[in-house]
Amino acid sequence: MFDSGVGGLTVLHECLVSLPQEDFLYLGDTDWFPYGTREPARLRERIAAIAELLLGRGAKLLVIACNTATAIGEDVACAVAAEGGVEVVPVVEPQAEIAAAITVSGRVGVLATPNTVESGAYRRALEVEGRALEVTEVEAPKLAPFIQQGSPFDEGVMAMARAYCEPLKRADVDTLILGCTHYPVVAPMLQRILGRDVRLVSGGHAVAAAVQRTLERAELARPSAGEGTYDFLCTGDTDSFRELGTRFLQMPLGEVERVEIQAG
Ligand code: DGL
Repeated sequence: MFDSGVGGLTVLHECLVSLPQEDFLYLGDTDWFPYGTREPARLRERIAAIAELLLGRGAKLLVIACNTATAIGEDVACAVAAEGGVEVVPVVEPQAEIAAAITVSGRVGVLATPNTVESGAYRRALEVEGRALEVTEVEAPKLAPFIQQGSPFDEGVMAMARAYCEPLKRADVDTLILGCTHYPVVAPMLQRILGRDVRLVSGGHAVAAAVQRTLERAELARPSAGEGTYDFLCTGDTDSFRELGTRFLQMPLGEVERVEIQAG
């Protein structure tokens, strides 16, 4: 699985809860963070190269643990994976399915990176669900960088989060899609601002369920009850990735291998 940074670890966490017996290989493309404001055409090249790298390392399934990468390059990741006979699990669709199922008022919010919002991926995924929904999308260009830097929660951050939540409150959403895999890390802050009545929908749980279904259907699931391995790759500074990742995942990452990706 891959993400632009440590956000995808929120997806890995859910997969480790559901499928502890599987081996996981996680790539954080920290050298290219943030994906949210990258030029889409170049980002697509980057995503194809990452998919190739992970397949080359023997992946039996590819999880796009990044909403922006799903929104901008799910099709290229799928094309690369298909050549290797490997299936892809993205983050956007499973989340849209949950949000459409649980909203009572039909007013759904999406908080995501500029690239994700501009791609229209959530709107399309919610439309497919076949309910008449009122969708309010908010671009949050500074939120993932704040999380990726591991910065302290100060008044400035609170003001930023309040400003991002303001249109969602005005629209009176009862369900908010956390449309970036970094955001579950700040779910408590968002929940406080939005109040108890707004349900936050993260991608991780739904993705873990989709991973399980896909592996079982393809007869690729590992039956043993033991614990699998987990390994980490990143394209930027390995020490800061290990430090931040260990804190977010609440388990030691061990050695993080640095890899070079030329594309993009
Ligand atoms: N985790 C990525 C996402 O889901 C982070 C965003 C970014 O790299 O800008 O969108």
